[in-house]
Amino acid sequence: MKKGRFISIEGPDGSGKSSTIKALSQLLDQAGWQDQYILTREPGGSAIAEQIRQILLDVHNQDMDHRTEALLFAASRRQHLVETVIPALEAGKIVICDRFVDSSLAYQGIARNISTDLIWQINHFAIEDYLPDLTLLIDVPAEVGLERIYKAQGKRQFDRLDRESVDFHNLVRQAFLDFAAEQERIVLVDGTKPVDQVAQDCLELLQAHGII
Ligand code: TYD
Repeated sequence: MKKGRFISIEGPDGSGKSSTIKALSQLLDQAGWQDQYILTREPGGSAIAEQIRQILLDVHNQDMDHRTEALLFAASRRQHLVETVIPALEAGKIVICDRFVDSSLAYQGIARNISTDLIWQINHFAIEDYLPDLTLLIDVPAEVGLERIYKAQGKRQFDRLDRESVDFHNLVRQAFLDFAAEQERIVLVDGTKPVDQVAQDCLELLQAHGII
């Protein structure tokens, strides 16, 4: 039985998710929530899932078939859910997860053109009924995201998916925007603002949705 609350943070590459999550966690700590939430990420978030992450993001794996990629993301998700997310929810924690199933629907379903129905089928197998209670979509135009990634080169590893074209990243961004327009669960956050402001906006959305 789920007792905690499950939040995912989504966005295109370079949307500033990771920095926002760091800043958001400081705000949560200042507000006295430090023992009541966990931060985790996909792909990865558990020992086995992190090993799958290495395969997925390895720049040498350019030959990876798109369906293999989709299955590995779903496999990583399953392991992370079972080992990390479900135990935390059962302990009554707020789980803040950097990416979840919407990333697979956007990247593999739309941008890789596999179809969201097929991606949903394999992911439903992986996650059963564990959907986030709330998804914060940090939105930036694809060009802004890619420029940030190029600027951060050296500080941050350039992964296999970062290397995709601007057209690919535009498809991802539009897919996320479409999902947000269709589903109440997914709420838009303007990722072009300074990171502290984006984190503050996320905090206010958590309050407005009764998560904290
Ligand atoms: P992530 O570590 O979140 O990278 P970033 O900090 O650049 O957002 O995710 C790694 C990459 O994996 C990113 O390009 C998005 C992609 N991805 C998918 O294609 N499908 C998925 O289901 C997930 C979770 C991530």
